[in-house]
Amino acid sequence: MVISVRKGGELRVLTCWGPLFLLCFGVVCNAAPDPSQRDSLMRQETSRQIGGKVTLTAAEMKLDARLRGMKEHEMSLPSFPPAIHFFKAKPLIEKSPIFTLLQKMPKGGALHIHSSTLVGVDWLVRNVTYRHHCYICFTRDQSVRFVFSTGHPWPTWDCFYWYLLETLRAEMGDPAPFDNSLIQNLTLFTEDPDVAYPSQDVVWEKFEKAFVVASGLITHAPVLRDYLYKGLEELHRDNIMYLELRSGLARTYELDGSVHDKVWYLKTIQEVTQKFVKDHPDFLGTRIIITVHRTLSVSRVKAAVMDAIQMQRDFPNVVAGFDLVGREDSGRNLWYFRDALLLPANLGLVLPYFFHAGETDEEGTDVDENILDALLLNTTRIGHGYALPHHPLAKELSRAGNVAVELCPISNQVLKLVSDLRNHPAAVLMSEGHPLVISSDDPSLFGNAGLSYDFYQAFVGIGGLKANLGTLKELAANSIKYSSLPPHLKDAGLVLWGKKWDMFISTNVY
Ligand SMILES: *[C@@H]1O[C@H](CO)[C@@H](O)[C@H](O)[C@H]1NC(C)=O
Ligand SMILES: *[C@@H]1O[C@H](CO)[C@@H](O)[C@H](O)[C@H]1NC(C)=O
Ligand SMILES: *[C@@H]1O[C@H](CO)[C@@H](O)[C@H](O)[C@H]1NC(C)=O
Ligand SMILES: [Zn+2]
Repeated sequence: MVISVRKGGELRVLTCWGPLFLLCFGVVCNAAPDPSQRDSLMRQETSRQIGGKVTLTAAEMKLDARLRGMKEHEMSLPSFPPAIHFFKAKPLIEKSPIFTLLQKMPKGGALHIHSSTLVGVDWLVRNVTYRHHCYICFTRDQSVRFVFSTGHPWPTWDCFYWYLLETLRAEMGDPAPFDNSLIQNLTLFTEDPDVAYPSQDVVWEKFEKAFVVASGLITHAPVLRDYLYKGLEELHRDNIMYLELRSGLARTYELDGSVHDKVWYLKTIQEVTQKFVKDHPDFLGTRIIITVHRTLSVSRVKAAVMDAIQMQRDFPNVVAGFDLVGREDSGRNLWYFRDALLLPANLGLVLPYFFHAGETDEEGTDVDENILDALLLNTTRIGHGYALPHHPLAKELSRAGNVAVELCPISNQVLKLVSDLRNHPAAVLMSEGHPLVISSDDPSLFGNAGLSYDFYQAFVGIGGLKANLGTLKELAANSIKYSSLPPHLKDAGLVLWGKKWDMFISTNVY
């Protein structure tokens, strides 16, 4: 082993063997840090980060140097986007040349998006609510509900009177302010988020409300088809080639009030995806993670688990597995549902899990135990895993088992787990090279369509100056590697992605 030591201004090289090394290390090197040893340690540490072992080509190194220059510049600006709330940072991010590059970058798959928040709300209001037979009602809590119907809809407990939107808009001089108020009902966006959402409780309340508002529109069967296609288009435009969608497979309805079941929903996803792939042959497909709400009873979750097993058998190319959704802090934890979640293992059946776990900052609570329980239940990935860095054992298990964390930076910020993304705990996971993918969670609610915004936050904010092009390359490849695709499709997907990547490098290096 060769160690160089700077002593009295001159550089001396000491050569040490075996036990002698310890001696020289203890005596000489401790006294004054050795620059080349320091370099070597820094290189070793960097090599542990995500992408740290990726060997960049000459062209990639050139692009990497350019990215680093851009990042240094952005870090020196008075308003550093990852440090401020996304609703205020979004216009700044859109001006960033790093963001422009990330939009062009092939990002692989989006593995954590919920079906009812897939498509931008602008289209829902300006296109869907303008269709014939769309009714609206105004609820007592300043919210709205929608329904499509040929006849006048019946009153419900929260909706005494329904108005036909066509008639209502015809009576308005300018429908634009009204349309904007509808958009406000469907998204969390607001000019001053810190005032509007003083606590996690407040922001989650608005979050759950927006789901209900959207449901009347997107559970209308003809709308659902357009909606899914539109969602795939938005992803494809952002250079995403694959989707794993979490969905409760809500019942959908026709104009005459007739209702379709979950199987219809799955078949529709399959058909729409097939059409989309025909129109866009570089898109790999959509797979579904079936979800139920964590406020349900154990017996209802048991039934849902059995149902999911059956649907996975019937639609093996579409159904990836099962998850529980809803705010972890106010819902029941995984351990509470153990009898339901152990059913597949006890019956000798298979149902892969993709649990949301550790989307909390309440350390040491029952909810905080979800990460370990998710791993004990053989989860395939961990949704969010925000609390994972606080659990060394769970972290080791997740790493050893290749259980990737689905990091959704903007979601965590908007839902008030962290305000300055430079302080996101996933910085630890990134610097350790933990299996990780980037996703957007609820793009229609947060306004982070595609994956480029979240990649920006992970690359510029959480990863800091250390994160480089190798980090981006590994993160994108991870999204295929840790997907639920069967091995042969993963391999084919990685080859296709690799071609796109090479094209991205060659067209953006100058
Ligand atoms: C509404 O969306 C559908 C499906 O995306 C599209 O075909 C149609 O042209 C849109 N209509 C308007 C008025 O934008
Ligand atoms: C929802 O839309 C209604 C109808 O325009 C409006 O009165 C209300 O203020 C909106 N609610 C929110 C939270 O923006
Ligand atoms: C998890 O995997 C282990 C090892 O394959 C198996 O023994 C165990 O039954 C599984 N547990 C569940 C809940 O699936
Ligand atoms: Zn989620």
